[in-house]
Amino acid sequence: MTGPFLPHVPLTTRRLVLRQPTFDDVPRLARLAGDKDVARMLAVVPHPYTEAHASAFIGDVLASNLTGDSLALAVARAKEPHALVGFVSFSRQDDTATIGWWFGKPFWGKGFATEAVRAMIALAFRDPEIQRLEAGAFADNPASLRVQEKLGFRRTGESVKASAARGADVPHVDMILTREDHEAAAPH
Ligand SMILES: CC(C)(COP(=O)(O)OP(=O)(O)OC[C@H]1O[C@@H](n2cnc3c(N)ncnc32)[C@H](O)[C@@H]1OP(=O)(O)O)[C@@H](O)C(=O)NCCC(=O)NCCS
Repeated sequence: MTGPFLPHVPLTTRRLVLRQPTFDDVPRLARLAGDKDVARMLAVVPHPYTEAHASAFIGDVLASNLTGDSLALAVARAKEPHALVGFVSFSRQDDTATIGWWFGKPFWGKGFATEAVRAMIALAFRDPEIQRLEAGAFADNPASLRVQEKLGFRRTGESVKASAARGADVPHVDMILTREDHEAAAPH
């Protein structure tokens, strides 16, 4: 089965392409997600993160991208589309999707997360059933919280979430973007 989102892939933005990952991405994926400063801000990425982890992840993504309930895309610069710089993904349950992302450390501070996540949000809301996107970040991740603020997410509360790389439960700021807020911020 091909889900409703895949026909829109690859997504292109001004500087970036969001494309299906391939097994050729494994070495860069392992290197970039293997940076502890990346992994520690994520829930499920272990540290150390090996090429075996990366390969298993790509295999899982290629299967789950076909289901229509989730989508995980490799992000690359349009001028160098084979060179992965990060990942953006969402998975849907009923009317809510959870969205997440990371970028390799050499690519921080260039606006790439804001640009890529904006495109992924627009794709998710193409599905009329989706009414809200959940994200949030560990409380010690102001850069990610700022990205979400820029994209119209609102803080809904605090929780505690496990971080595999830290091997600990970590305070978390919960954020959501409703369809209404999204459309008010970016009418289309
Ligand atoms: C969080 C992350 C995705 C940001 O990516 P990025 O491409 O650098 O983000 P952008 O450049 O689009 O925007 C970052 C914003 O945060 C701000 N920022 C960066 N560091 C900050 C800090 N320490 N405190 C406050 N704001 C900060 C930047 O100034 C920018 O805001 P601005 O445009 O208003 O100036 C990236 O750092 C990353 O991948 N981190 C590790 C994984 C991760 O945290 N994933 C998200 C998990 S919820």
